[in-house]
Amino acid sequence: MKLVEAFPTGSPTPSGQFNINMIERAAPRRSKPSAQKIADSWRQADESLGQVTSAMLNAAQAPGVLGEAAKYQLGGTAKRLRARMALALGHAFQTDLNTVVKIAAACELLHEASLVHDDLQDQDTMRRGRKAVWVAYSPELAITLGDWFINQAYDVILSVDVSATTTRQLARSLAKAVGDTVRGQAIENEAKTNLNATTSDYIDMAAGKTAPLLAFPLEAVCAVAGRSQRECAAIRSGLECLGGAYQLRDDLIDLLGDKGRGDGGADLVEGKATLPVVVYYRD
Ligand code: IPE
Ligand code: MG
Repeated sequence: MKLVEAFPTGSPTPSGQFNINMIERAAPRRSKPSAQKIADSWRQADESLGQVTSAMLNAAQAPGVLGEAAKYQLGGTAKRLRARMALALGHAFQTDLNTVVKIAAACELLHEASLVHDDLQDQDTMRRGRKAVWVAYSPELAITLGDWFINQAYDVILSVDVSATTTRQLARSLAKAVGDTVRGQAIENEAKTNLNATTSDYIDMAAGKTAPLLAFPLEAVCAVAGRSQRECAAIRSGLECLGGAYQLRDDLIDLLGDKGRGDGGADLVEGKATLPVVVYYRD
């Protein structure tokens, strides 16, 4: 059996196409006014993305090569999905834009940190069609830059102009997102050569490292909008499922699509137990 035959879906579209069209395709299944509202919030989110980029560049400023590498990493093409999620929900909840921009910048800084460290761990030389930071600069600098981005994400979150209680809630929820992502990444690294992993092991691993940083922007906007703990928790548990789905799609793009790394299949070369590999060995 060829690997690709294990999947009914064929070749997925590149993740760059994860955009408003997906929402619009889903729209007929909703009532017209709510579909319109969702589409409006996504459009509004895209209009505010420039402010998020500025906030990230501002926060990541540093003297010397650290500042240079920060600009290099933030200057590449990125979907900014987590920022757009925060901005869209912020628009839907009519939350203060400056606050939401800071939440969006903090979670994108964390996401960038996770990628800078991840490329070094995976020994992936390319990211988004350019050299990964550890190759363009050095492994030492990649470690420092990742640490810098994590620190600055906390700095941005702590500068949000909300009550002390909400600030503490945001900081704790950020710490949880970072902690869960690190744990997820550690489990994946440990399981790298485990060809006995089951599909549910894979889904747990995939969700473990991906869901926390997808959940944080929504959970944080929920918190500053004064929504109930129950609503915030419901959002988190919904995103735990979506995190697994998102990572599965990301892994399929690595195998069959274009991740901006030249030839596909980097995960196979790295010996990762992604779902294609797990299903192949199982069958
Ligand atoms: C990225 O994981 C890092 C985290 C989700 C923490 P992957 O290794 O699966 O993603 P790519 O293929 O390098 O983008
Ligand atoms: Mg990787």
